[in-house]
Amino acid sequence: MGVVKKEKIYEGKAKILYATENPEYLIQYFKDDATAFDATKRGTIQGKGICNNRISAQLFQLLEEKGISTHFIKSLSEREMLVKKVEIIPVEVTIRNIVAGGMSKLLDLEEGIILDAPVLEYHYKNDKLHDPLVNEYHILALKIASLEELDAIKKISFMINQILKDFFAKKNLELVDFKLEFGRYKNKLVLADEISPDTCRLWDKETKQKLDKDRFRRDLGNVEAAYQEVLKRVLS
Ligand code: TMP
Ligand code: ASP
Repeated sequence: MGVVKKEKIYEGKAKILYATENPEYLIQYFKDDATAFDATKRGTIQGKGICNNRISAQLFQLLEEKGISTHFIKSLSEREMLVKKVEIIPVEVTIRNIVAGGMSKLLDLEEGIILDAPVLEYHYKNDKLHDPLVNEYHILALKIASLEELDAIKKISFMINQILKDFFAKKNLELVDFKLEFGRYKNKLVLADEISPDTCRLWDKETKQKLDKDRFRRDLGNVEAAYQEVLKRVLS
């Protein structure tokens, strides 16, 4: 039976959420819009929405097969997937395997240093505050998540890192770092949002060529081709 697309309930920088006839489900629509540096840089990446929808669907299915609960239900179209309607926990969880971007800046470390063990960071999702770096005590003090939830988030995030690192390695890609968002669905923690070159740094294993949103952030050119290449390898 087809899913009925109803009213728009939320529009973010890269995605739109629509209600469906089922109050427990939403349609997640992937746009070509791209922003960076707290939306001070804006642009369009042709076909990005299609790539990110398909890459995310593939990765959510992989994680589900490995026992990770996600909001993904099924793909609906080129740019749309059916997802569970979750209550998003306003924390971005970043896992880093190799120094880049924010960590390179924060600690004045050269990009490309391989970390002995993955580094986990939390950023409080708050536009007014520009998503500040926070620690577990801040999250507990602000009652953003419980200690039990944080323990589960950490455990699941490191499991996801291992699964994705192994998967991308087979595709000749290095998973440098990535960002996750979690939600609550029927009192259970589930992985939400997306996993795509917008939310991961991916470097070609041999050439170290960047195949992710850094091509847009840093004006490196061949942005569309990078997303297409990741899609091709993910589906290979
Ligand atoms: P960062 O190095 O800028 O903190 O980014 C770490 C990872 O998180 C990188 O793979 C890109 C991703 N990310 C997002 O998905 N959304 C964001 O708003 C930011 C800042 C980073
Ligand atoms: N998407 C974020 C923004 O709009 C940041 C980023 O991914 O670089 O600022």
